Amino acid sequence: MKAVIIKQFGASQVMELVEQSTPKPKDDEVLVKIKATSINPVDIQTRRGDYKDAISLPAKLGVDCAGIIEAVGKHVQNLNVGDEVYYVPRLLENEGSYATHHIEKAAIIAKKPATITFEEAATLPLSAGTAWECLVERGRLKAGDNVLIHGGSGGVGVYALQIAKYFGAHVVTTCNNTNEGFVKQLGADQYYDYKSAGLYEKIYNDHPNGFDIILDTVGQKTIENSLALLAHAGKIVSIVDMSTPQNLINGWSANGEIHFVFTTQSARRLADMADVIDKGGIKPILERTMMLTDIVAAHDLIEAGTRKGKIAIAING
Ligand SMILES: NC(=O)c1ccc[n+]([C@@H]2O[C@H](COP(=O)([O-])OP(=O)(O)OC[C@H]3O[C@@H](n4cnc5c(N)ncnc54)[C@H](OP(=O)(O)O)[C@@H]3O)[C@@H](O)[C@H]2O)c1
Repeated sequence: MKAVIIKQFGASQVMELVEQSTPKPKDDEVLVKIKATSINPVDIQTRRGDYKDAISLPAKLGVDCAGIIEAVGKHVQNLNVGDEVYYVPRLLENEGSYATHHIEKAAIIAKKPATITFEEAATLPLSAGTAWECLVERGRLKAGDNVLIHGGSGGVGVYALQIAKYFGAHVVTTCNNTNEGFVKQLGADQYYDYKSAGLYEKIYNDHPNGFDIILDTVGQKTIENSLALLAHAGKIVSIVDMSTPQNLINGWSANGEIHFVFTTQSARRLADMADVIDKGGIKPILERTMMLTDIVAAHDLIEAGTRKGKIAIAING
């Protein structure tokens, strides 16, 4: 098999495509022939050493898997050789989808949506799965909710907008002003330019009843700034580590909930999402497809920012 590895943390050039022996699955595992993966910010964070205490070198990268089951362990009952699947591997533990093959526990793998390509499927497990976990599972999203998505044009945001709309919410988002048309196509009823002066006052004045769910995909002081925008008993769900101290007092007067999500692996969630995807309720947002040999250029593009959707990596061989 071929895999992208890093022997040291650093810039994109530390990634090397190497030949390795193909492992065999244990009793509760499967061997997946990876057909496509995608690039996520966590890959870049891992590569540059943000999690160096949790990652030992040499390390593999890549957390979105779409592929075909090539071998199954003897206790696996939910999957068969030839099944087309998609999943997120165990994070900070079992990265490695930038490769021709990957081993993972069968219990966290789901069948791929039937109506989309492997490249499209590879844009979904981490980003859309995180958005679903935040809104549906933690936020207890329901029809008629007012939802604010910070970062609606990002990898997670493009799916959060669609999921919120699919469940019948009124959806407001913050994003770069160049992305107004894009986020509206994805279901945003209203958008705010995150660089505009007095952003939070404007949102507050336009939405005096507040939001039932606010999703923070941005970080910095987004939780603190957003607490005054919560409806009574509203929820803020953040996926970004709280590296900046924030004052949470406004959440108290709203009887609010603050949730932190480090996404969990769930075959059930991926199967529920696949149903919605096959009904057309969530569309994969694939900006471009590159090859595994282009991995350095793909990381450089993601690090340059201002994307409109995900970069998938097609994997042959
Ligand atoms: N906890 C978890 O389980 C989990 C799971 C997935 C992702 N994450 C993390 O969540 C973060 C977002 O992930 P992603 O894949 O969505 O990243 P991404 O694709 O880089 O998207 C980030 C988006 O945020 C926009 N943005 C930047 N500053 C903003 C601001 N002040 N207000 C509103 N929007 C702003 C960017 O817009 P422009 O660049 O166009 O200006 C971009 O569209 C990353 O840090 C990632 O590591 C965490």
